[in-house]
Amino acid sequence: ISRQGQAPLLQGKKVVVTAGGTIERIDPVRYITNDSSGKMGFAIAAAARDLGADVKLVMGNTQAKPPENVELIPVQSAQDMYEAVTREWDDADIVVKAAAVADYRPKEVYTEKIKKKGDTLSLELVKNIDILETLGKQKTHQFLIGFAAETQSVEMYAREKLERKNCDLIVANDVTRTGAGFGTDTNAVHIYDREGLVEELPVIAKDDVAHRLLRIAAERIAGRN
Ligand code: CTP
Ligand code: CA
Repeated sequence: ISRQGQAPLLQGKKVVVTAGGTIERIDPVRYITNDSSGKMGFAIAAAARDLGADVKLVMGNTQAKPPENVELIPVQSAQDMYEAVTREWDDADIVVKAAAVADYRPKEVYTEKIKKKGDTLSLELVKNIDILETLGKQKTHQFLIGFAAETQSVEMYAREKLERKNCDLIVANDVTRTGAGFGTDTNAVHIYDREGLVEELPVIAKDDVAHRLLRIAAERIAGRN
């Protein structure tokens, strides 16, 4: 969408977005996942497309309908998502990690369906790679945006994640608030950078959150040159 004949804000930029939850296999018919709807990531991908970007949408588990006219890269596990993002990383201008990546996966993936036996069943879980933290360490020119879904001490945890994962911005989400977080079409977020609060958005449509976020990113990238 160009205004007054200007080039769209993200024209010529490559934007990589991850969305949805990851699926961590237990056996051929069972898996672990989470409540992520994918809607926030989809809204960001659509907004980036509307702002003229070349969009790669790395998409985990979601029930929502992905946006049209963006390149879809479906993945399942955190490891798959990491590999897909890494393939798009070198020439990416903006990378947005809106996905809900499983922190742990089953240590063993059974090749046959687990049979019902005793009264209890224990699954051992092992930690997944932290995709955002790994990208943060490899950052050269990429503008890196993370998310933080919290139920308490939102600002403290979000800013700790921003530092630890070397993000340029972090979008903090108090998922206990109504109209914010998993499954909804609206969100209420605080956006932080290293210095502190950049913007506090009221409960608004995820589409509007996405546009605002990308405008901030675009301005900051433009300011670097
Ligand atoms: N993230 C990631 N890889 C992981 C876990 C999280 O890339 N294995 C990313 C998410 O996509 C999000 C950010 O890190 O952009 C924060 O995710 P979150 O779950 O809030 O933070 P964690 O570091 O996993 O900490 P915790 O779950 O304990 O709050
Ligand atoms: Ca987590």
